Amino acid sequence: MAALIAPSMLSADFLHLEKDVQMVNAYADLFHLDIMDGRFVPNLSYGFPIVEAIASKAEKPLDVHLMICSPHVYIERFCKAGASLLSFHLNAIHEDPEAVLGLIKNHGVKAGLAINPDIPVEKLFPYLDQCDFVLLMSVFAGFGGQSFIEETYERVAKTKEEILRRGLKTQIEVDGGVSPKNARQLVECGADILVAGSAVFKSSDPQQTIELMRK
Ligand code: DX5
Ligand code: ZN
Repeated sequence: MAALIAPSMLSADFLHLEKDVQMVNAYADLFHLDIMDGRFVPNLSYGFPIVEAIASKAEKPLDVHLMICSPHVYIERFCKAGASLLSFHLNAIHEDPEAVLGLIKNHGVKAGLAINPDIPVEKLFPYLDQCDFVLLMSVFAGFGGQSFIEETYERVAKTKEEILRRGLKTQIEVDGGVSPKNARQLVECGADILVAGSAVFKSSDPQQTIELMRK
């Protein structure tokens, strides 16, 4: 089955944001919005004004990826700002992950748990039945434009095997360094949602790049 393509707006042209929003509306499946706080990751991105501006023109669902400490504090605001999918990092919280996932689902929003490449995928397994999706980082969270980490294929396959073994419907999202070069193999390993920032927005033909990744 073809994967959903979620362009990461971190690589969009912020001086012409509406143009890039319309491109995603026309050719992609989801808007991937990266929220960074300079604490959980060593970088800052953007916050509510940008999320709300994108939401006001978006015809595709917003997939908000929180790379922040204490994500539970902001869940309600991101849900109200228009998130349809909302993920946070397992090691960004001190609370029980199930409780935080529950907070998201109470808003009717799909809840996802994310991990960096150095965290064993098995750490997600106790929560797979609580997650609408899991986000496997294929670079270390914090910056766009990094190189894809090859071990991701094995991590996706292992996670997919566990999901299927337990008869769950949890989707797998892969984020970081995704491009037409690795998209096919990721989907063969079991990825359902592919996030791509630079590959889409730095491409001379974003529409074609998205189509290549979907095939
Ligand atoms: C990285 C972000 C990614 C990033 C992807 O911390 O979570 O979503 O924007 O960008 P590329 O596709 O350029 O690696
Ligand atoms: Zn992301």
